[in-house]
Amino acid sequence: MSTQPETTDSSEQTQTTDDATLAKAALAAGDPTGWFEPLYVAAESGDAVVPWARGEPNRELAAWAAAHPGDGRRALVVGSALGDDPELLAAAGYVTTGFDVAATAVAAARRRFPESTVDYQVADLLAPPPEWHHAFDLVVEIINVQAMPRDVRPKAVASVAGFLAPGGTALVSAVAEESIDTATWSGPPWPLSRAEVESFAQDGVRLVGIEPIRENTRWWAEFTR
Ligand SMILES: C[S@@+](CC[C@H](N)C(=O)[O-])C[C@H]1O[C@@H](n2cnc3c(N)ncnc32)[C@H](O)[C@@H]1O
Repeated sequence: MSTQPETTDSSEQTQTTDDATLAKAALAAGDPTGWFEPLYVAAESGDAVVPWARGEPNRELAAWAAAHPGDGRRALVVGSALGDDPELLAAAGYVTTGFDVAATAVAAARRRFPESTVDYQVADLLAPPPEWHHAFDLVVEIINVQAMPRDVRPKAVASVAGFLAPGGTALVSAVAEESIDTATWSGPPWPLSRAEVESFAQDGVRLVGIEPIRENTRWWAEFTR
């Protein structure tokens, strides 16, 4: 996930914070999500780069939303980060909630979009608010489950599936495990195999379709209940 190596400039004695360094420390302490908040905090002071912050919505989600206006339906964006995907859906007519485990990301999203109608919340996918169960017509999970270690994956996948209301749509995208060399790879992220993406079809959720995208480096899947 790192895009920026730890650097030390001998002339200025400055050092940037690598997300991999933060992740390693949190994971060693047994905290699967404890590195996100310090990463966003470090980024605010210019001491780190948030590797996934593109400043624009996910391109496949943008194409999907253009063809599926919300008309007041309820959407939930998992791992809302700096708010680009929730804002896209709100603009497409969805009554949108975005949540992130990192309070600093949630605050930054609110700050970036002061006129927003999105309900930004700090929440944990591994222990989500019970009132979100079966509560959303559209659930968007893009490269968040893969950012947590494999041992919490079943819980994360079950939470995503659980958000989906009857008749709704869940969109899931992840880096394809099939596109990496698992023998040498060390996460984060921990990419998902096709079967793992298909495993979001549980507890009444069923797969509508799955396809490789971005030259087979990612999966894009659609589910319904
Ligand atoms: C790899 S980033 C992806 C962000 C965004 N979905 C995207 O496509 O760019 C993962 C995001 O999920 C958040 N996150 C990680 N674990 C989480 C959890 N258990 N509950 C909620 N958010 C989580 C992180 O803070 C981070 O903003």
